[in-house]
Amino acid sequence: MAKAADFIPQKYSKTLESGSFTWSAPSNIALVKYWGKMEDQIPANPSVSFTLNNCKTVTTVSFSKKEDGAEFSFDLLFEGQPKEDFKPKILKFFERTVDYLPFLKDFHFTIDTKNTFPHSSGIASSASGMAALALNFMSIEKLLNPEMTAEYFNQKASFLARLGSGSACRSVKGKVVVWGKHAEIEGSSDLFGVEFPENIHTHFDNYQDTILLVDKGEKQVSSTIGHDLMNGHPFAERRFEKAHENLSKLKTILQNGDIEEFIKIVESEALTLHAMMMTSLPYFILMKPNTLEIINKIWKFRNETKIPVCFTLDAGANVHVLYPENVSVEVLQFIQDELVGYCQNGQYICDRVGDGSQLIMNN
Ligand code: DP6
Repeated sequence: MAKAADFIPQKYSKTLESGSFTWSAPSNIALVKYWGKMEDQIPANPSVSFTLNNCKTVTTVSFSKKEDGAEFSFDLLFEGQPKEDFKPKILKFFERTVDYLPFLKDFHFTIDTKNTFPHSSGIASSASGMAALALNFMSIEKLLNPEMTAEYFNQKASFLARLGSGSACRSVKGKVVVWGKHAEIEGSSDLFGVEFPENIHTHFDNYQDTILLVDKGEKQVSSTIGHDLMNGHPFAERRFEKAHENLSKLKTILQNGDIEEFIKIVESEALTLHAMMMTSLPYFILMKPNTLEIINKIWKFRNETKIPVCFTLDAGANVHVLYPENVSVEVLQFIQDELVGYCQNGQYICDRVGDGSQLIMNN
């Protein structure tokens, strides 16, 4: 079984002066939710997500050797402009990963990052952002150690992304990614995400996720504070067990294509996540009235039409509407007719399951 120490590199075989890479990494949407963690984003329970295709962060990291290797040195640009308020997050990433990336103090880095989705959309960019950053550093490490295998590259990229933000480790590779040790998922680990190891039924090919932007306001609860609420939570232990059970069921469902059962697990997970927030101390309600309106409309539409559309939620008010590709005309019409009115400024984002990160440029 992999341990954190496996990701501490031996002496590098090559030296480097300067260069630059660009990686894109997608956002992901959890089907079984990660909520509750130990130190260093070791998850309290395993989770599984669909990788998205359109909601991405694209990050260029340029590096040049510097004389003094005592401190971290980097500039942070957002869409080409200096962005001081993003720097503390990046500094934290450097601090958490330097044991595994010992070259971090030997270079000055310029990190230029942008999202393909609106910054203020309320869609978390930490997953895609941390994954894109981790992949760039892995590309640099690969120059220092060209013998590295592709498997090690991806595993360590996911491992580093996790140190930045837990859910980011599910944004590296694969359409469906499991993170967290689970007895029935081969190769699963608390340290990094792994591609779902079984065949996925064609019903889930190109599965659609239309993200309804209900509330684009600042997050009411940061994810770190949110996860902390599971410490000492009266229902925590049962919830963590339930996540294991739900992942077992989803493992079967993803293989046999039973969308009715898929819907039950996915909606129950979303509501359980919010139930955990409502029953913690302090307690929070992150849904908005329009979130509930949308959920009720989806249930009504599904009952009446038998079209298998369902929802999931993140730690916020936005609604992810999930459905198979073969009903997308009907569902998009339904969204237009009945749900857009509940979105802030009528905004929504059409996305679907994607394959994971991509190396875009290598100089
Ligand atoms: C509700 O990954 O944002 O989206 O590890 O503290 O950075 P940190 O938290 P984060 O938590 C995401 C929680 C969630 C569920 C999920 O994506 O599984």
